[in-house]
This record gives sequence, C-alpha cells and structure tokens, in this order.
Amino acid sequence: MELSVFENRRLELLQCLSGDALAVIPSATMVLRNRDVHYPFRQHSDFWYLTGFPEQDAVAVLFKKGDVFRYVLFCQPKDPVAEVWMGERVGVDGACTVFGADEAYSIQDFDTVMGRLLQEASNLYTLSLPQLTVGQYQHSVLSGALAHCRLTASALEDHLHLMRLTKDENEMACMRLAAEVSVRAHQQAMRMVRPGMHAYEVQAALEHVMLASGCHHQAYEPIVAPGKHACVLHYTDNDAVLCDGDLLLIDAGAESDYYACDITRTFPINGRFTDEQKALYNVVLDAQNQVITAIEPGVTWDVLHALSVKVIVDGLLQLGILVGDADALIESQAHKPFYMHGIGHWLGLDVHDVGSRLDGDQPRRLAPHMVLTVEPGIYIAPGSDGIDPKWYGIGIRIEDDVLVTEQGCDVLTESLVKDPDGIEALMQQD
Ligand code: GLY
Ligand code: MN
Ligand code: MN
Repeated sequence: MELSVFENRRLELLQCLSGDALAVIPSATMVLRNRDVHYPFRQHSDFWYLTGFPEQDAVAVLFKKGDVFRYVLFCQPKDPVAEVWMGERVGVDGACTVFGADEAYSIQDFDTVMGRLLQEASNLYTLSLPQLTVGQYQHSVLSGALAHCRLTASALEDHLHLMRLTKDENEMACMRLAAEVSVRAHQQAMRMVRPGMHAYEVQAALEHVMLASGCHHQAYEPIVAPGKHACVLHYTDNDAVLCDGDLLLIDAGAESDYYACDITRTFPINGRFTDEQKALYNVVLDAQNQVITAIEPGVTWDVLHALSVKVIVDGLLQLGILVGDADALIESQAHKPFYMHGIGHWLGLDVHDVGSRLDGDQPRRLAPHMVLTVEPGIYIAPGSDGIDPKWYGIGIRIEDDVLVTEQGCDVLTESLVKDPDGIEALMQQD
C-alpha cells in the first residue's frame, strides 16, 4: 500500500485526540518458544494499520501540539550481527526514508526520548493496557507515565477501531484477493476428499494452495472436522479419520497482505448427501441466503441474527427436531442447543475484527464498505436429549464474507459452490 494511505489514517486518528496529545501505539513483539526459537511473528493489526511497518519491538508515537502533527517511530537499530541471524532491519534511517516517520529513534532510547515528549503533551493516549506489557523496552517509561499523565485509552481505541470498520479501496482489494485464494483452497479440498483420509491431509491441501499463492499466514487455525467433530465449534485437532457417510465441515481462510478471509463449507465425504444431511443442510442454507439477502446499509446485527434464528427454528419444526409454537420456541431459546453462536462477526485485518456493535447506546447500523461474515449453523451432538438418533453427529455451518455496498451487498466468497447439487457435481471432478 502507498505510504500516503498510512499517513492519512494517522492524521485522521489525531483529529479525535483533544488538546496537546501523544498517542502511543506499540507493535507486536516476537514471543519466545524456547531458547532462541520464536513463535511465528505477525505484526499487530492496529500498528500495521497506522504504519505499514513490518518489524517487532517498535513503537509509533503520534504527537499533536496545536496544529503541528509529528510521527515518531522507535524501532530496532541496525545490527549487522543480529541481521545475519534474523534478516535485515529497516533501521532508524529507514524508518524515516522508507516508512515516512518525521523522526525515528532506536527503541533502546525509548525511555529518554519519551520522557522528553511526555513533557510537551498533557494528554497521553494509548491502546488497551495488555499490549503495553509485551516487548522488551516499551513499558517502563509508559507505566511511569501512566501515573502522572491523563490517560485516555478507550477514546483512541474506539476511534481507531471505528476507522477499521469501514474499508477503503486498498483494503477491499486485499480482501478480494484473500477470498479468491481461499475459494481455490476450499475447491481443492472438495475435489480431493475421500473416505479413509485423515483430516490433516485435507488441511495440508488447503494450506498448500494458500501458501503457494503467496499467503504466508492463515487468518486462523483451520478447522477440518469430520462427522461429530463438527459439533465442536472450534475443532482444530484435525486428526480424525474421514468416514464414509459422514459430512466434513471445513472452516479455513487465508490472510493476504494482512487481510483475512473466513469461509466454511460442509459437504459429504463420499460425495453424496444422505436425506437427513441434505434436509438439515437446506435449512442452514436457507437461513444463510435469507440473511445475505437482507444485508444493506441501515440493517443491524440483531435483525440479521433474529432472521437466522427464525429460519432455523421453522426448519427444525418442519423436520420434527423441535416441536411447538415457533415464537414460543424462539422466546425460550429452544434453538440454542443446536444453534448456539451468533450469525457472524466483523472481518478485516483480524478474523474476528475490531469495532463495536453499538453506536453510542444504539445498535450499530451497517454502512457501505463494512465487511462481515454470515455463518449460521446447526449442530446435533451425539446423545442430544429427545432427538431421534438419525440426526446425531450432524454438524453444519455455511459461512461467507459479505461486503456492504451502497445498494445492498457483495458476497466476496460467492464463487465457492454451496448448493447441494453443485457440491456433489464439484466432488465428482478430479
Ligand atoms: N473461523 C472462525 C469463525 O468462523 O468465526
Ligand atoms: Mn467466522
Ligand atoms: Mn469461520
């Protein structure tokens, strides 16, 4: 992305700070796994959104005094020995020349320089405190500063996360690319699945497509859940055998240029739905289609969720899984044992992306260029009380990523088949 994209975001954020202010935004840090081996590093999304700076142990300080704005970046200094092991660093000079900082310092000088900056500003803004406890350098001065500065964590975070809710053209392009790669990965999985395989073989095929497409990270641990394992919502062991006659639920998405995709499909391992599987599947699909059709600017999450509950309760009544009056069943939350999660979540730099569902004390209304998932499901765990055993162990979720547009919405993951006939046809292909 162009540097000006990040610069404009910083300027917009600074507008919401009052008085002479400092906003302190730390990067992610490398977390040690053992001795000198680290867990995979992924930049913190808030820090990335404002800086585009890829390294760990950095702190962005946005400074506002009267009409003057300054962007100060603390980062790891050049170190030829460390760079032999861990790769080239941008360094202090590069922070200015390549990443557009007005001033840059070694993170090792953070305490001294921050001490000086803090004297110039009356208001200190930062993000939620847990982030400040990570990193080697970045908390000693800040924790001292917290004691004597007026600290406004939530105002910064609320505004930043409000900005992240609405995607610009660059972000929408990244999300379309993440969707395209993820769709291809799911298609590959549908084609290769055979009874007797292990879930991890399917996981490997998904990850191969994503990695070979240049997506170094997945947006989250993939879920490859055959049969009853699909009733565990976040099953990630992915070591079960794929049995003839069962369904397979795959919930997997690539991250492309830091932006997430989040797709779930559920399909028959042997390529043909049973009558029971197809009946339940069609209820979930109907719920998903109706919710997607309802998405347009002005709609709220609670309306979308209530619609999904209504369709699922009506479907479960028709199949005899629930008995009684639909409104009374909804009122008593009789669907909860089978549909226990929400209709979806925001999507963006993070898979469960930031942004409040409230606007003040009112439900937030969808607006153009917000992105959300739509992911109803029905899960009938083995041994469910009062349920005919023919339904046991069926877990179904269908999930797509939806961009709100001026007129309605655009389903970013639409090209991945989800009608039962289309799935069965795709599974016949090699
Ligand atoms: N992949 C996690 C979720 O769908 O929320
Ligand atoms: Mn999701
Ligand atoms: Mn998902």
